[in-house]
Amino acid sequence: MISHTKYGSKRPVSIRRLINWKKKGRRIVAVTAYDYTMARLVEQAGIDLILVGDSLGNVIQGLDSTIPVTVDDVVYHSRAVARAIKRAHLVGDMPFMSYQASLEDGLRNAGRLMKEGHVHSVKLEGGREHAELVRRLVQTGIPVMGHLGLTPQSVHQLSGYRVQGRTEEAAKRIVEDARILEEAGAYSIVLECVPERVARDVTKALKIPTIGIGAGPNCDGQILVLQDLLGLNEDFEPKFVRRFANLAEQTVGALGVYAEQVRSDEFPSADETFDPQPNLAVI
Ligand code: KIV
Repeated sequence: MISHTKYGSKRPVSIRRLINWKKKGRRIVAVTAYDYTMARLVEQAGIDLILVGDSLGNVIQGLDSTIPVTVDDVVYHSRAVARAIKRAHLVGDMPFMSYQASLEDGLRNAGRLMKEGHVHSVKLEGGREHAELVRRLVQTGIPVMGHLGLTPQSVHQLSGYRVQGRTEEAAKRIVEDARILEEAGAYSIVLECVPERVARDVTKALKIPTIGIGAGPNCDGQILVLQDLLGLNEDFEPKFVRRFANLAEQTVGALGVYAEQVRSDEFPSADETFDPQPNLAVI
């Protein structure tokens, strides 16, 4: 088993530690998770930060975008993940239209993620247009992670899931937005699907850590969707995903053996069957 202590103590990962790790050049390792069982394994592996992303719309609900995901959905999954967490920093994603219409919506919904979902901080997509909300959340005691570059909640405005920041002007705007979010009090920023050079410029310009997904190696940390890195999602193969396992193949294989053994009466065996004793505990 990978020990927590190899890369740091078992102390809970606070936003202060995350910022300090940037200063020390210690990479931040982040993944998404959506349920208790997987979150326990993520914790056991010593992952620093867990995001209950609105990507749950894709990988849990089978939707083709994150747009329909609700605050209730994120609260439900965050509560389950939170029960497994001892050390990792837990971030809850603010779903589409939970913060865009008004500051009050943003404050109330971020508050719900903390009070009902037990997250330690919230993430929201977008730059300067949300600076005031970031300021208000931070003043309220709710730490905020920004998200720039490809912002999936704007998929239709962006005309699809495309790499962002390819022109000089677009790259400059991302760097400016990152500075504005930092100035407003954000403690870190996710950079999604931007050219390596843009991620490097943002990372250099900020004191707070950048966490990349499809943003190359010049970020202070990396995040991947758990199902993607475990190879559970066979028909999703973007350039930036590396599969560290092939659990889809293993899962289908195991289910095939189970089906075979039920059909051939090999399962359950006598050892897996109860004697007729009263009050026998199941486990
Ligand atoms: O929703 C999500 O999982 C995300 C990550 C991909 C950063 O926003």
